[in-house]
Amino acid sequence: MTKASRRSKKRRKFRKQEANIRAKCKASKESQPIISPKVKKYWLQRYNLFSKYDEGIKMDEEGWFSVTPEEIAVRHAQRSIAGGVVIDCFAGMGGNSIQFAALGYHVIAIDIDPLKVEMASNNAKIYGVDNYIDFIVGDFLQLAPSLKGNVAFLSPPWGGPSYKMTHNFTLDLLKPVDGYTLFQVAQRITPNIIMFLPRNVDVCQVEQLSWLSSPPLNVEIEENYVDGFLKGKTAYFGDVAYWGMTQETNTHTL
Ligand SMILES: C[S@@+](CC[C@H](N)C(=O)[O-])C[C@H]1O[C@@H](n2cnc3c(N)ncnc32)[C@H](O)[C@@H]1O
Repeated sequence: MTKASRRSKKRRKFRKQEANIRAKCKASKESQPIISPKVKKYWLQRYNLFSKYDEGIKMDEEGWFSVTPEEIAVRHAQRSIAGGVVIDCFAGMGGNSIQFAALGYHVIAIDIDPLKVEMASNNAKIYGVDNYIDFIVGDFLQLAPSLKGNVAFLSPPWGGPSYKMTHNFTLDLLKPVDGYTLFQVAQRITPNIIMFLPRNVDVCQVEQLSWLSSPPLNVEIEENYVDGFLKGKTAYFGDVAYWGMTQETNTHTL
């Protein structure tokens, strides 16, 4: 072999090695999800949101900061003893619907955003519970008069992460309508209502919701923690209030 052909062989080997390295870098970049800085904090807690995250869970940006952490969604499902059909009025990524279905309830999961419904349906398949959930794309407020169910679960938008800035989160800050209107709409379906609310919610206002019914509904409010951090408060009305006060859970009844 001449000196020139040895040099050309070496060059070819070097180029091949370079191409391999470039391909490996590209593959490793592609296997990492694209995480915006806004979402990073939530992505780090991904297994608290969905324990099966790595199996192909899909989330959009709003979903990252609004999905109910799995441990709390399990708690909500355990508390839905009034049963049979649970209406998840603001289903989002399906965090709650999945856990209601996992306990054997039939779930009607509603969200106004068709892309979210697609993601929730994908996520329900991953948990093997999609057969127990009817997904509906639509505005809960418009659909409500035609809905029938044993429990109405309300997890309305809290107005984005800025809800934390407010010292006292009043019910008029809830979206898409204030908490009083929302509660009245849900009450026409069933008195058994579960509301997942911000940790800084005005508890007196939440208690007042029970007076919108005559006679007033039972109401119970509990704090929901994950890893020792207060993530939200849940209000239970009607037959789902005052159940399991002796259960060992990671929650505190106020
Ligand atoms: C806080 S998120 C629900 C999170 C859900 N519990 C979960 O675990 O994924 C609120 C959802 O309400 C939906 N939404 C807002 N207005 C709505 C309306 N009028 N009817 C139905 N869904 C609505 C939003 O698209 C959003 O996905």
